[in-house]
Amino acid sequence: MPTGASPIARPIAVVGAGFLGAPVAAALADPAGVGGSPVLATSRSGTWPNGHVPEGIQVRPLDVAALAPADIAATLAGARALVVCYAPGKQQDRRELYVEGTRRLLAAAVMLRPTRLVYVSSTSALPDRDAWLDDDCADWPDEPRGRVQREAEELVRDTCTRHDLPWTILRLAGLYGPGRELFRLYRGAGEDAVLPGDGMQPTNLVHRDDAVQAVLAALALEPEQRGVVNVVDDDHTPRREIFARLAALAGRPPPRWERPPGPAAVGKRVANARLKTLLRVTLLHPSHTPENP
Ligand SMILES: NC(=O)c1ccc[n+]([C@@H]2O[C@H](COP(=O)([O-])OP(=O)(O)OC[C@H]3O[C@@H](n4cnc5c(N)ncnc54)[C@H](OP(=O)(O)O)[C@@H]3O)[C@@H](O)[C@H]2O)c1
Repeated sequence: MPTGASPIARPIAVVGAGFLGAPVAAALADPAGVGGSPVLATSRSGTWPNGHVPEGIQVRPLDVAALAPADIAATLAGARALVVCYAPGKQQDRRELYVEGTRRLLAAAVMLRPTRLVYVSSTSALPDRDAWLDDDCADWPDEPRGRVQREAEELVRDTCTRHDLPWTILRLAGLYGPGRELFRLYRGAGEDAVLPGDGMQPTNLVHRDDAVQAVLAALALEPEQRGVVNVVDDDHTPRREIFARLAALAGRPPPRWERPPGPAAVGKRVANARLKTLLRVTLLHPSHTPENP
């Protein structure tokens, strides 16, 4: 917990116990029973990622795209703090989950009146510009994926403000970590694929451990501290360079790109000032270059 932060209100519910939500729930669990109540973790299927539920966690099924607000509130009954970190995967419609599902989840939150709602969004809610973009960037992205995320953020901000619920929106950069290692970012295209463009866009990534730290710190904010926080590491080394280093470490030639590199990296660099000043997170993985995995 950051210095000067409040104790986290319990019981806590983590809606969407996947790659990020499961370690968040595990970090919040209190196996010694000091806090008295288990962390409620939900997934659509009602199962925990690797099947073995850690002590201090209770798993329940919850589908916010299918249930009415009263049923969502019944599933989360008793929760005093909510972490929302669901993702649609390949099967679900993004708008159905992020906008309509969030609308229902928020209506349930209004019934539950938690002391803090932490909503996990994505840096895709920011525009794709050749610039540094800070936590207060007012401009929307052009492409539909990001616009859906931004619409969900606006719903969270508006509903929570209207009902005076303390809120934090965490805009996460691309997540990597155990099971989603960096090398998958480029091997996903296939061994010999020619990668599109010149690879000179800056990267915006964050290690899962640091994303977990950000969620925990957001839960411990004082009630009047509300706002959007970009959750991204300090390193914006372009993909071309990172992929070349990863390939060299694996003893392979660098991947081939469609175009030769331009003179400079061009694209968005998401800035992380509030992650440090408001959440007081000290990054465990400030750099994601392969020498510092
Ligand atoms: N991964 C990234 O690179 C990245 C980047 C930026 C932001 N984010 C954000 O980080 C958050 C977590 O991502 P993740 O990678 O941890 O996702 P994930 O591993 O795919 O986990 C998603 C979780 O949400 C649950 N879920 C799916 N549909 C749901 C629904 N309709 N109602 C309720 N729960 C539902 C899933 O349950 P089932 O497994 O049972 O379906 C699972 O527990 C998301 O908000 C995502 O937008 C991720």
